Amino acid sequence: MKKIFVLALSLFAAVSAFSAVEAKEKNVKNKPAKEIVLQKADFSKGKTVLQAMLDRHSSREFSDRQLDIRTLSELLWAAGGINREDTGGMTAPTAMNYKEITIYAFLKDGVYLYEPKENKLVLAVEGDKRAAAGMQDFVAGAAVNLVYVSDMAKMKGDDDDRNMTMTAVDVGHVSENVYLYCASEDLACVTRAFIDAGAISKLLNLKESQKVILSQSAGYKK
Ligand SMILES: Cc1cc2nc3c(=O)[nH]c(=O)nc-3n(C[C@H](O)[C@H](O)[C@H](O)COP(=O)(O)O)c2cc1C
Repeated sequence: MKKIFVLALSLFAAVSAFSAVEAKEKNVKNKPAKEIVLQKADFSKGKTVLQAMLDRHSSREFSDRQLDIRTLSELLWAAGGINREDTGGMTAPTAMNYKEITIYAFLKDGVYLYEPKENKLVLAVEGDKRAAAGMQDFVAGAAVNLVYVSDMAKMKGDDDDRNMTMTAVDVGHVSENVYLYCASEDLACVTRAFIDAGAISKLLNLKESQKVILSQSAGYKK
């Protein structure tokens, strides 16, 4: 009887230990990647610029399917990637080449900072924070919400109004690039100014000089 009891106890201990390991592994698996290495854009496909302009439109209906890595990479490259390795020139121009814009990608697993030089995403905030990137219901379901942040400290002119106008224009170029890429790839996309900039700043732990300017949702069509 004692033997059976000891055997049952050992069996229970073994099962518990296994479950603990399994739970731990599951936990590790559920952790968002600290970095996402992006791919190089495929320049052999896509519509002509004129066709993309013809097809560009805002859409607020998104499939819940997450973007594949190639599409996510190209979307970010269109937004703020480097297109001239020798000078560090970018796909979207900035006034005086200030390069004041940083791009955050709100994905299902977390919020990531886009690092164009390294062509990678770096985890900034864990968890699904997509809903925080806007104030309309569809925002939470878009595969990605891009948030454009301008560091006003990088703009050297001392006229604050003028700096704000210039960075708004700069962000406008970024968002049009994204619109055109989405049109080319038949993705749904909409630019959004209806955002809670204060809440986003807090979530991203931004510096005083960093201003949340605009957001843009993108994803596969519903
Ligand atoms: C600066 C800017 C801010 C916008 N803000 C929002 C927004 O907060 N929410 C939204 O649903 N659409 C927003 N839009 C999308 C416009 O409503 C849309 O571009 C406009 O209705 C024209 O439609 P189209 O893009 O299909 O041509 C914004 C567009 C721009 C350019």
